[in-house]
Amino acid sequence: MVESISGAALPFDWGYNARLVIPLSIVVSQLFRICNPYSPAAHAILLIGPPALVTWYRSLPFQRGSNALYTFGFSAAIHLATVILSTLIYRLSPVHPLCKFPGPLWRRISMIGPAYSATNGRIPQDVRSLHDQYGDIVRTGPNELHIRDPTVLAALWSVPRGPGFIGTSLSRTRQPMVGIQNPDEHQRRRRPWTRGMGPVALKEYEHIIAKRGQQLMERFEENKEEVSLDQWFHYFVFDFMSDMAFGGGTELLRNGERSNPWSMLGKSLQIVVVFSRLPWLGVYGGYIPGAGRALRALQSRSSEFTAQRVKRGSTTRDLFYYLNNEDLPNVQPPPPNHLIDDGVLAIVGGTDTTAITLTNLFYFLLTHPDVYTALQGEVDKFYPPEEDGFNPKYHRDMTYLQAVINETLRVFPPNPMGGQRQVLPNGPPVIVNNLHIPPGTVIWLSPYTYHRDPRSFTLPDTFWPERWLIASGHTKLEDARLPTGSTGSHIPVEFVHNDTAFCPFGGGPIGCVGKGLALLEIRTVTCALLQKFDVRTRHGWDSQEYLKNMKTFVTSGRRPLPVTLTLR
Ligand code: HEM
Repeated sequence: MVESISGAALPFDWGYNARLVIPLSIVVSQLFRICNPYSPAAHAILLIGPPALVTWYRSLPFQRGSNALYTFGFSAAIHLATVILSTLIYRLSPVHPLCKFPGPLWRRISMIGPAYSATNGRIPQDVRSLHDQYGDIVRTGPNELHIRDPTVLAALWSVPRGPGFIGTSLSRTRQPMVGIQNPDEHQRRRRPWTRGMGPVALKEYEHIIAKRGQQLMERFEENKEEVSLDQWFHYFVFDFMSDMAFGGGTELLRNGERSNPWSMLGKSLQIVVVFSRLPWLGVYGGYIPGAGRALRALQSRSSEFTAQRVKRGSTTRDLFYYLNNEDLPNVQPPPPNHLIDDGVLAIVGGTDTTAITLTNLFYFLLTHPDVYTALQGEVDKFYPPEEDGFNPKYHRDMTYLQAVINETLRVFPPNPMGGQRQVLPNGPPVIVNNLHIPPGTVIWLSPYTYHRDPRSFTLPDTFWPERWLIASGHTKLEDARLPTGSTGSHIPVEFVHNDTAFCPFGGGPIGCVGKGLALLEIRTVTCALLQKFDVRTRHGWDSQEYLKNMKTFVTSGRRPLPVTLTLR
């Protein structure tokens, strides 16, 4: 019972209040669906506005019997419940544009569950199981599809970037190049990167790789009894990337992890993976002090490095020479924020991925002695002791090396989920073959699931570099070495190899711009290391532990690989 304005006690009119607020709630749930707002202010207006409006209306003199507090509390509860319920009904209904795609029921309801389950570090394996259960196209969220169909892959690479980076960069407005969703804007921001990663630029970076590679070999020689390959490869890539991007700034190979100015990288990865699935939550995170500490620290470190580099000007043609348009004197330099974000992107995109690949490659060599021997033979042929192991002039002739690298990237793509895409919300649907993807749909094209599909690769879970030689015509199937541990005289299944399904670097106009650089680093370090040392696993090391330690948040993560080295 509540007091009326005349003082008489009147029953609180639940039904009337509900009838006022529910239509407004249904409109709001449609606004959420259509506009998909990220801003907390918009959320506040949409969530508080209708109950406030009803409360105001009920306080007018001709509306008898309304207590403002009661009315607001009740309307707010009804409003929230109606928005949630009507959203859920819509998501489960046969009128939802993704209703025809199969997938677990709980994933259709909300992204909160999928985002939480991604924190287990097993997203690629979970998605693979979903494909095995539901087929090539799985609805993995209310508005999200995972697609594992090699016949549509090439066309889908040109779909623009998805909204995940809004969450990971904790901002709707400030995005690194990789997070820009507008295709024209993305291409504009990518142009300096394309110049900075082109063949002319790569030639300039060769001497930096050689200098840091030489230093890596010296450290290996000093520590040869006890070397953690993963750790030293990480030191190498950080020092190289700092030199290559900013013209210097780190000395991890000399001073170790203590001196790592980028040590915040790799922190809070579970939060990052949640924010990439729930971008609006990331935007909220941006307002909570401490929530984005690692990102802010990265930006402020990049800001210092960028400021020093820009002040110093270019002493060599490093990446900033291109990013800052120093190669185009008549073109304005970009705004400082763009440069700072590009600096972060170089470090985030170009370090872990390359170091993880190098570590995985040596893991496979150590667990597949026949492959090790074959690769060693090729390295010795092109790089005998008197040859400069850091000179990449023979790389293009080293077919086995490339086969080993490809196979490493196939079995363990360092970025197993690849880059997220989204069909433009205000654009036309994407139609490829019989597949019709409605506007606004978020799609994932996971390299891990494509690479592990037996329709594209024979024995997909088996590390077998020879498959690349057979596919390219360098070796005949009947002459090829069989996978390590095989007992028969030929592979027990039909040979299939679908190059289109090989996508560790993503693809299309927003595919990895650093692919050429990554391959140059990987080839150079592998040749130099095998030329100089015999690599053996450390006594007591358990290769199964290496597999168990694989946890994917953004990349597949760093895993210890302890070895001993002997000078050759
Ligand atoms: C083995 C090493 C590497 C792997 C496996 C890898 C993988 C990837 C993948 C999967 C993407 C998303 C592509 C897509 O959405 O289609 C990407 C984007 C990107 N990568 Fe790499 N990457 C590697 C090394 C590098 C290096 C060395 C750099 C140099 C800085 C780099 C810079 C970038 C940049 C800037 C993007 C964003 C491209 C754009 O949005 O236009 N990556 N990479």
